[in-house]
Amino acid sequence: MPQAPGRELPGVVSFVRRSSRVNPHQRRVLERLSSKYLIELPTGELSTSIAPGVEVDWQAEFADTGGGASPELFVEIGSGTGDALVGAALAHPTVSFVGFEVYERAVASTMSKLAAAGIRNVRLVMVDAVQGLDQLFAPASIARLSIFFPDPWQKKRHHKRRLVSPAFAQLATSRLAIGARWLLATDWPDYAEQMRQVLDATPGLVNEYAGRGGWAPRPDDRPVTKFEERGLAAGRPVADLAYRRVA
Ligand SMILES: C[S@@+](CC[C@H](N)C(=O)[O-])C[C@H]1O[C@@H](n2cnc3c(N)ncnc32)[C@H](O)[C@@H]1O
Repeated sequence: MPQAPGRELPGVVSFVRRSSRVNPHQRRVLERLSSKYLIELPTGELSTSIAPGVEVDWQAEFADTGGGASPELFVEIGSGTGDALVGAALAHPTVSFVGFEVYERAVASTMSKLAAAGIRNVRLVMVDAVQGLDQLFAPASIARLSIFFPDPWQKKRHHKRRLVSPAFAQLATSRLAIGARWLLATDWPDYAEQMRQVLDATPGLVNEYAGRGGWAPRPDDRPVTKFEERGLAAGRPVADLAYRRVA
């Protein structure tokens, strides 16, 4: 896929691959459900990177899920244990959902929930979503992008690991269709401000709530996850943002 002009992706990744192994139950879940939900791709140098030249035909991937000839793609980055994906997939049964998550245990947990709810319109990809967005999606092909409670990387020296950076925002915007929405939520006030500054400065995006204080209401299909609960218990307010891709 072509890169957006002038964009330089960060060399550091926004996650640490936790070493904790899946337990026997999670292993069985992965063995039983991966063929249904996981898009397994040839990896590159890292187990979370994609080999050069690999692409995904999303239309073929979702051919049997009722999404139509040209699926409407909703993408979530850092889908964790899948609560938002499950809620959104049930709320929008004709939309095709792609969740990026590098944490294997969380992917197993997500698959269990998807199967228990009988969901067919979700696929998971266990690679770095930054490379995934770049390599697996054509420009202007995503109808909604969600990033809920991304890792906050609180220490100043770790801020470079934060997912929402100017280069990433430029990449993500290039993948959004005109009119597509980009939803974000965080319980870390300085990251919320950073997200807002970065997205406000990204050409092609407008803040849907610019005239109303800039912060968005909670989306109807975003459930409370344990990360949100932890933030609230610690007294951190949750900030939602909603941007729209314009020409
Ligand atoms: C703090 S958790 C939040 C999970 C979920 N959104 C929720 O609210 O419960 C952030 C998740 O993002 C994943 N993650 C971070 N950077 C990623 C990347 N570049 N590609 C894929 N997953 C990523 C991490 O593995 C982690 O599970």
